[in-house]
Formats: sequence, C-alpha cells, structure tokens
Amino acid sequence: MVKRIGILTSGGDCPGLNPAIKWAVKTAMDEELSEARGFEYEIVGIRDGWRGLAKYDSRYPVLPPGKEFSEKHYVRILTEHGVRTWDRVGGTRLGTSRTNPYATGKETWPQVVASYRALELDALIAIGSGHTLAVTARLVREEGLNIICIPKTIDRDLKGTDYSLGFETAVGVIVEEIDRIRTTAHSHSRTFIIETMGRVTGHLALSGGLAAGADVILIPEFPFSTDRVVEILKAKREAGQRYAIVVVSEGAKEAADSAAGAGAGTASAPLPGGLAKRIEKRVEQGTGGEVRSVVLSHLQRGGVPCAFDRRIAREFGIAAMQLVDEEKFGRMVVFRDGEFDSMEIPTVLQDVQRVDVSQRYDTQSYNARFSLA
Ligand code: F6P
Repeated sequence: MVKRIGILTSGGDCPGLNPAIKWAVKTAMDEELSEARGFEYEIVGIRDGWRGLAKYDSRYPVLPPGKEFSEKHYVRILTEHGVRTWDRVGGTRLGTSRTNPYATGKETWPQVVASYRALELDALIAIGSGHTLAVTARLVREEGLNIICIPKTIDRDLKGTDYSLGFETAVGVIVEEIDRIRTTAHSHSRTFIIETMGRVTGHLALSGGLAAGADVILIPEFPFSTDRVVEILKAKREAGQRYAIVVVSEGAKEAADSAAGAGAGTASAPLPGGLAKRIEKRVEQGTGGEVRSVVLSHLQRGGVPCAFDRRIAREFGIAAMQLVDEEKFGRMVVFRDGEFDSMEIPTVLQDVQRVDVSQRYDTQSYNARFSLA
C-alpha cells in the first residue's frame, strides 16, 4: 500500500521553507520508518500554494520524479534524491502565492477540495502563516480534509509557537544591512531611519534593532511620538554621538495616527510601509542634522536560510510527518519552551503574538528593555 501526501507553501516566502520540505520528504521516505509503518508514502509537491490546488487539471497528470513544474503541470513527485540539497536553498522550490480560496468573490475552495480528492491525497502539509492556517482550519472542519501546518513568517507573530521559519535569517539580514549603513552614517554624521517588515507586530524590528545596536526602535505595539524620537536623538548628539540609527517596523504608528487608524494593526489591514520616509523630514527639522531613510523590504525575506532556520526546519519537517503518521490532523507543529510539539489550529488563530511591551520594551527610551525576564 502507498499513501500519498501533498505538500505546499503558501503566503510570503522566506528562508526555511525548502529545508522543511526536504525533511518532511526524508522522514516520509525513511526505510526503517516505512518498515515500521507497514506501508510506503509518496510525496507530491504542489506548485504555488492553494492556487496550485485550485488550478490542478487532471488532464496534466502528476509529473514523475526529476521533472520540474510547467505552465500546466501543478503537481510533481518529490524524492529524497530530488530534495537532497534543498536545505541550503532560500525561497521555496515549490513556488508560493497569496491566493486565499475563501476570498470573497474569488472563492476557489471547491476546486481545492476537488483537486485534493482527484489527487487521492491521504494528507496535506501546508507551510504558511495566518491566512494559510485560517484556510486550513476551514478545509479541515468543513470539508474533512487531512491537513497539518508548519509555521513560517519572518514576523514571528503566530500564537502558540516561539518560532516560525524565516525569522532568524531575516534578523541576520537586518543586522548585516545596518552594519553596512553604519559606516556611511558615521562618515557623514547622519541619522538613518531603517524600516523593517512587521505588519502587525514588532518582533523583527526589536530583535534586529537590538542586535544591531539601534538608538531608537519603533514597534506597532507602542504608538510613538516623533517629538520624543527627536528628543532622544538630540540628547545622544549632545552627549557626543556622531550618528544615529533608528529602526522602525513598517506597522508602527504615531500616537496621533493610531487613534484614527481604523483597521490598523490587523493582518487584513492594507499593507503598511513608507513610515521611515514619512517621518524623515520631521526628524531632520527637529534634530537639525541630516537624515536619510532606507526600506529593507524584501531583502529580509531573501537569501539562504541561516543555521537556526535550517535546524528548526528539519525538526518541523520531521514533526509534521509524525503528525501525519499519528493522523493528528488540523494541527500546527510548534516550538515552545525549547520543545517541539503541536497545537490545534483554531487555538493558534485566536490571536497574534505581540511584543510584550511591559517585559521587552522601554517606553521612555524607545528601545529594548533591560530585563532578564
Ligand atoms: O507577512 C509577512 C510579511 O513579511 C509582512 O511583514 C509584509 O508586510 C508582507 O509580508 C509583504 O509581503 P508581500 O509584498 O510579499 O505581499
């Protein structure tokens, strides 16, 4: 007997997706495990997330091992040999999309369900974040599909897990880029405002900023005042500091705006961005020194996965296959308090994980708090 498992990546890409796929495939193919199971698995990769399942057309059958996706072929067989080197590759070799099969007016979930059945999948592993989890929860509850999720998002804001794939690589990019900016900032005695991703939460800005030694860090969880930013920077300049680094999360809000900003700070709000540019002139006028801004944008999602992402992706891939073996569907693998475990997806979806301002953020200095808590 052979059981067929599908695997897809959905939502924004990040480093760590390919290693997770590799380790899910390796766990599925492992000879000893197969013997203990008493049956074999076949793993099929689905192109471009949910869109791939919506578009799958049985006239263009599943591609054999070694064949790449084509214009019409959305599904291909993955082998251990084929994914051997994927652990060191960034992005996703399966492709991704932000297609939401339940999007109002663009519903494709009936096609997704039909493809799942036509492909005779016994289970599906979906690697994604909030929207992927929400889609999964409905497909499991309403259609009875067997789906397991692996968390990924450089924003690292999913509830129930201390880690989601991509975060540490993105933090590394932020630090590396700030180290670069620092030399030019120093040469010209300038203040640089560096905008990171983080639509709803400030984990990325805070971790990146503190690791890079930023002077000011602005996060969505604590609405800021530009006047206060100017005050902090002026005091540093008066104390003899030649240049300054300000890190702002793209989702950060000025206190005045946040009262008016309906819908801000939710995953469904329009994509933010441009904050660094918006405050650049006012910081320049306030401090009387030159200010430049840089948006790091998708650089943070690019490049090869760092060692930590490769390691966690390995464990997530193995854990996902264990859940499939145990038929524990509708769950997401998690890394919590140093242990790998899993959690019911509806529980994960109850809220996002925000920066705990009282423990982690100093609301006076607008920087990481001195605390060992
Ligand atoms: O959700 C993850 C994220 O990295 C956000 O921080 C950012 O706003 C968004 O993706 C941008 O994604 P894209 O341009 O790929 O739609």
